[in-house]
Amino acid sequence: MCGIVGYIGPNQAAPFLIEGLTKLEYRGYDSAGIAVFDGKEINVEKSVGRLGILKKKIETASPNGHVGIGHTRWATHGRPSDVNSHPHTDCTGKFVVVHNGIIENYLHLKEKLIARGHVFSSETDTEVVAHLVEEYYEGDFEAAVRKVLAEIEGSYALVFMTEHDPDKIICTKQDNPLVIGLGNGENFIASDIPAIINRTRKTYILSDGEMAIVTKDSVWVMNRQGVPVTKKVFEVNWDAEAAEKGGYEHFMIKEIYEQPKAIRETMSGRLAKDNSTILFDELKWTQGEVAAINKIAIVACGTAYHAGIVGKYYLENLARIPVEVDLASEFRYRSPLIDDKTMVIVISQSGETLDTLAGLKEAKRLGAKTLAITNVVGSSIAREADNVIYTWAGPEIAVASTKAYTTQLVTLCMLAIYMAGLRETLPPARIQELIGGLRNLPAQAHEILEDVEPIKTFAQQYGFNEDVFFIGRALDYCVALEGSLKLKEISYIHAEAYAAGELKHGTLALIIEGVPVIALATQPDVYEKMLSNIKEVKARDAVVIGIAMKGDDHIHNYVDHTIHIPAAHKYLAPLLAVIPLQLLAYYAAITRGCDVDKPRNLAKSVTVE
Ligand code: F6R
Repeated sequence: MCGIVGYIGPNQAAPFLIEGLTKLEYRGYDSAGIAVFDGKEINVEKSVGRLGILKKKIETASPNGHVGIGHTRWATHGRPSDVNSHPHTDCTGKFVVVHNGIIENYLHLKEKLIARGHVFSSETDTEVVAHLVEEYYEGDFEAAVRKVLAEIEGSYALVFMTEHDPDKIICTKQDNPLVIGLGNGENFIASDIPAIINRTRKTYILSDGEMAIVTKDSVWVMNRQGVPVTKKVFEVNWDAEAAEKGGYEHFMIKEIYEQPKAIRETMSGRLAKDNSTILFDELKWTQGEVAAINKIAIVACGTAYHAGIVGKYYLENLARIPVEVDLASEFRYRSPLIDDKTMVIVISQSGETLDTLAGLKEAKRLGAKTLAITNVVGSSIAREADNVIYTWAGPEIAVASTKAYTTQLVTLCMLAIYMAGLRETLPPARIQELIGGLRNLPAQAHEILEDVEPIKTFAQQYGFNEDVFFIGRALDYCVALEGSLKLKEISYIHAEAYAAGELKHGTLALIIEGVPVIALATQPDVYEKMLSNIKEVKARDAVVIGIAMKGDDHIHNYVDHTIHIPAAHKYLAPLLAVIPLQLLAYYAAITRGCDVDKPRNLAKSVTVE
């Protein structure tokens, strides 16, 4: 995820900017840059690649000056490159800005600014912000920034600097973190606490909609209308390691909690305001092209494969196209029936998984059209595919995938609705209902995360069992597969997922007294059948934990414990039902004393066959 730093004070800014960015390296980035005011003008140095390259660049001519801002970029809009790196400047070079997040309406703003004569140099959404301040500046920096904020939509942490008013830095945030470190005659700005804890432990944590004017001796915080806000000083008492995890004990739990935000970012700018359609600017497909596709093949590994199985439901049910889903390691060795009428969709968080990349190459060799769904801009898979949809989940550091999975599901659902629109397979009212449902997801995911105590208790109660079963039907079965993978990979408990109707064809022999069975029952079309399957395992004295939607007052008659998720559209239930399963796996691993973020024998990116 991108990182932001800023400095204003009596000391040289550049050394702090580099130090702060180094502290944020763990978050992942593909390029870095700084801007420093030297008393006359702002000098910008930026470079694609590791921070070491930027350090080398400024070694010979280190920018002199006592005020500056810096950034590490994790690409979303525009590939990693020197020009796409932050800071971004306006046409005159007198305004600079660094940004975390996504400006949703940037294309519209960019067109307007180009028509007004502005010249853009990068492909980023951020650059519009620099040109907008230039456009609105009439001698009052603060007023210009306020006007910019009234124009932009999306999520952001933004930090501005200008040659016209070099004794202040202005910063603001919406749905992205930003902190101000309070020093003695100097102040610091950062997206995350690790960047500043070596310098100060006194901070203001900005809230959404707040704007701060930071000088070397003062910090004025106000709302967007300019009304002053009284801030409490937050004294940081985390050590450096805890600070990297935002105060969470592990990256995995941090990433589980990031899901509401990640889901929001994935949808950002992609849902039409009136819920009538999905906007994928990256896909320039025509109705004719989509109509010509007679089959989709989804190819992926592990968690991404599980997302692909959900994708099959979405694409077949909404866009009415036959879909097959393959494990990438199997796909290319089974002589798949693929031709130029097939669309092959590869899904990969990292964009580097070797089997998936090889599957993609094989699909291309066979003449298929290819689409990659990935989280990493400029990754090998992104470069190889004909088209790419980025999930914009932010870097995932824990080995066990969590937010990557939920954002892959959101992407697949949006893709199915998009293709359904082009193929005219869904009435407008159903499209609106689904997009309305997508909009509710961040708040619903948040609701689940607000009350994790019962899940923690189950994990402590059953965490020492050696076998756990997950059962479900239809989309619940797909989620069961992911829940069981999560549990086994981080807690080392033997976990199996079964289509509930399949149990009696063999696996029921393993269900004995006291064996925990997680039964998902969120799918209305198969609900009654699912209850029959729950009765089958209860009759063998299994302990059943049911996952059901709020409003289901029936399930508790059949199970030992119930976890309720917010009521959602049946197609969107997997996105919510998986969260308790991620939490169950996490707390079971903690109960067993496992190394949650680095499970034994596993690696984050699998670049071997
Ligand atoms: C499980 C997990 C793995 C990955 C798989 C594919 O939690 O993370 O199963 O999903 O290795 O990785 P990507 O998505 O990077 O291709």
